[in-house]
Amino acid sequence: MSQPQQHATQYLSDYRPYPFTLNSTALSFQLAPDNTQVTARLSFQPRDPANPRDLVLDGGKGLTLLSLTIDGAEPAAEMVLRQSETLTIRAEALPRTTFVLETEVQIDPSANTAFEGLYISGGMFCTQCEAEGFRHITFYPDRPDVMAPFDVTIQSDKPVLLSNGNPVESRPGMARWQDPWPKPAYLFALVAGDLVAISDRFTTMSGRDVALNVWVRPGDEDRAGFAMESLIKSMQWDEKVYGREYDLEVFNIVAVDDFNMGAMENKGLNIFNSKLVLASPETATDGDYERIEGVIAHEYFHNWTGNRITCRDWFQLCLKEGLTVYRDQQFTADMRSAPVKRIADVQTLRARQFREDQGPLAHAVRPDHYQEINNFYTATVYEKGAEVIGMLRQLVGDDGYRKALDLYFDRHDGDAATIEDWLKVFEDATGRDLSQFKRWYTDAGTPHVDMQESWDAANGRLTLTLRQHTPATPGQPEKPARVIPVAVGLIGPNGQEVGKTRILELDQPEQDFVFDGLGAQPVVSALRVFSAPVMLNRQIDDDMRAFLLAHDTDPFARWEAGRELALSALTDLAMGKDAGAGYVDAIGQLAGDQRADPAFRALCLNMPSEEEIATRLAAAGTTPDPDRIHGAREDLGRRVANAHAHLLAQIYDDMAVPGAYSPDAEAAAKRALRIAALGLLNRIDGGDRAEVLFGTAGNMTERMAALSCLIRRGRGQAALAAMADQFASNRLVMDKWFAVQPMAAAPEDAADVATELARRSDFDWKNPNRFRALLGGLAANHAGFHRADGKGYDFTAEWLMKMDRANPQIAARMSTAFETWSRYDPERRAKALNALQRIADMDGISRNLGEMVSRMIA
Ligand code: ARG
Ligand code: ZN
Repeated sequence: MSQPQQHATQYLSDYRPYPFTLNSTALSFQLAPDNTQVTARLSFQPRDPANPRDLVLDGGKGLTLLSLTIDGAEPAAEMVLRQSETLTIRAEALPRTTFVLETEVQIDPSANTAFEGLYISGGMFCTQCEAEGFRHITFYPDRPDVMAPFDVTIQSDKPVLLSNGNPVESRPGMARWQDPWPKPAYLFALVAGDLVAISDRFTTMSGRDVALNVWVRPGDEDRAGFAMESLIKSMQWDEKVYGREYDLEVFNIVAVDDFNMGAMENKGLNIFNSKLVLASPETATDGDYERIEGVIAHEYFHNWTGNRITCRDWFQLCLKEGLTVYRDQQFTADMRSAPVKRIADVQTLRARQFREDQGPLAHAVRPDHYQEINNFYTATVYEKGAEVIGMLRQLVGDDGYRKALDLYFDRHDGDAATIEDWLKVFEDATGRDLSQFKRWYTDAGTPHVDMQESWDAANGRLTLTLRQHTPATPGQPEKPARVIPVAVGLIGPNGQEVGKTRILELDQPEQDFVFDGLGAQPVVSALRVFSAPVMLNRQIDDDMRAFLLAHDTDPFARWEAGRELALSALTDLAMGKDAGAGYVDAIGQLAGDQRADPAFRALCLNMPSEEEIATRLAAAGTTPDPDRIHGAREDLGRRVANAHAHLLAQIYDDMAVPGAYSPDAEAAAKRALRIAALGLLNRIDGGDRAEVLFGTAGNMTERMAALSCLIRRGRGQAALAAMADQFASNRLVMDKWFAVQPMAAAPEDAADVATELARRSDFDWKNPNRFRALLGGLAANHAGFHRADGKGYDFTAEWLMKMDRANPQIAARMSTAFETWSRYDPERRAKALNALQRIADMDGISRNLGEMVSRMIA
């Protein structure tokens, strides 16, 4: 089997400080679409003048060097060495003290389809520099531990010219910005365009006045208000909860249509994918609103966790991302419902991170090698990175956490820090030894925790025996025991809680935990709040699960009991066994429980996805059969609908929210429950309710739900046509339109639907959102993507190869559709491997996609 072209691997152990300090960076841009000139004046100082070193700058192939001087003089030609990705100036040509390097380069933003560095989106100049985009703008030490204050001058005929920091000068055709806070190049940003702002102001806790702007294209102003509200809430929250104050005179947010990721925390100038800024009731769903609020918060929170304290090198990415995700999760929990947020986060973690951890792409929260860092902006670094912080907090307590964070900000403000620094702060603040805990950062894989109970009636004693085991992951065959906080509560036979929730610290391969003084055998509620990102295996039957679903006081554990009922029924059904009666009963009781929060009931009514069922089967050593899984889930859904038709219809009617749309948590919860009921009823009412709802709903949440139901019943054509008609010029709505079709199609049709859609003239595939909509929509249709004849694989592979030539980051990211390929049957495996092999063999494959594919077929 041939391997893709090899690219160099970077190792954490090779880290060396940069041999120069950078005192200041002055940039000057003359913007033109295909011929932008960038002048950089960089003031360097050798760290060790006694030991002269070459000055090595990063610089991509797209840079044309026009001139270079050192302290105003041109060095001899042989002193300057241009290689494909670097520019080296020989030590002999460099002064031993502070010197100014000035370069002038020419770049072509109009040719930049990778959307990394300076590019054009909808006529607007914008940038994306994390992780290593700045090297496509000018020659520079493009690494996060080289920090400098920036002074940026922009010349352009665009009316709005923005960069980081504070505005210091502005007249038609030019603007100058100064950012006093030393920062690495990845936080640089520039925007030039025909933009309008919605504006507000914020007074910080120490009384400083900050101008706030959300910049959008003319015509989009009426969809930017929610983003602004979210920003203000984020600023208030970070002051109140973390004591963190904003530190510039202005905070700008810009929405752009072509963006590889969600958003970017550039200092004082956050740039966002427009889907995470723009929202109106007619165009955005409740889920969109919640994500906008969460991502605005996330990027804002980076101002302290990421910008004021950044990462020493990209191996430390989780230092800023894990912590910032943890903070945005806390924020959303405070703004909305904490239990519902926790359950949603666990669902995401399992769907994305557990999936990643179980396959060929598994890696540590802090990886120790990579070829392409952009391939490591993953669920493991982000979401598991946040879980690790949640565990730390449980181990040291809320006070310890607060002390440690205060110390972190105190000690490391202005630093480029490491995970070692982070853990040391917790050790110093709390006195706890975290050397074993560190394995959560260095060891990949999801631990399996087995729990055994033994009840000693004579002594009223319950013993829990916990065992841990983490399966091997690529490059890490042995996994020593790590410390795992397992939150446990006990519930008496009468349904009453016995004692308080206890955190068991499992730090051995096997350990006993004893509970004494119990009158009767309790039911154990284990892994409350999902206290650790592990897979818990316990002996438990459907009656106990139903008991926990009825009585557990921990909302996560309660939801989990219902989830386990569903999963055990679905996995049994998928293996041809008779199952599900207990689930059908229990779910009816919960759905009808008027005291429970509608959002919680909605979460319980939503059955596990086909992907989740497949993951569960695979973890248990069974080969998942996508078609049988699909059949099992359809069957169980129909049974629930038939058994509770009356109740579900009642819920559907009761949960209609009258009056004007509001995206608040309470109204969204009702809609979520209503839609969950609709999804079940849709299996027995032929789609009639969905048809009415699509025609009458005044908000996108219900319209999209109705549309998806109609497609599932094979009667989506009219609704799809109506939507395309109404929203032809709204990209974000059309993205949903592209995504829902392959996603909701019958498995046997999904790949054909995707193929048809890809032929449309409005399949603007170079736009990352549009591409993700279509390929992601197909990948989300589990049985459709894994169609037995390989059509789903082939379609995806063809487009990944095409995309790789334009935008390697997007191609690499979407290639994760294949990350589970090896868990299926031999026929599917052969077809998936064949598709992957074709990608691997492609000429000139990017480092991004090349690395992903080689890991997947290794
Ligand atoms: N730091 C950004 C965030 O808030 C993500 C940017 C990642 N960009 C990239 N090209 N890898 O999470
Ligand atoms: Zn982030």
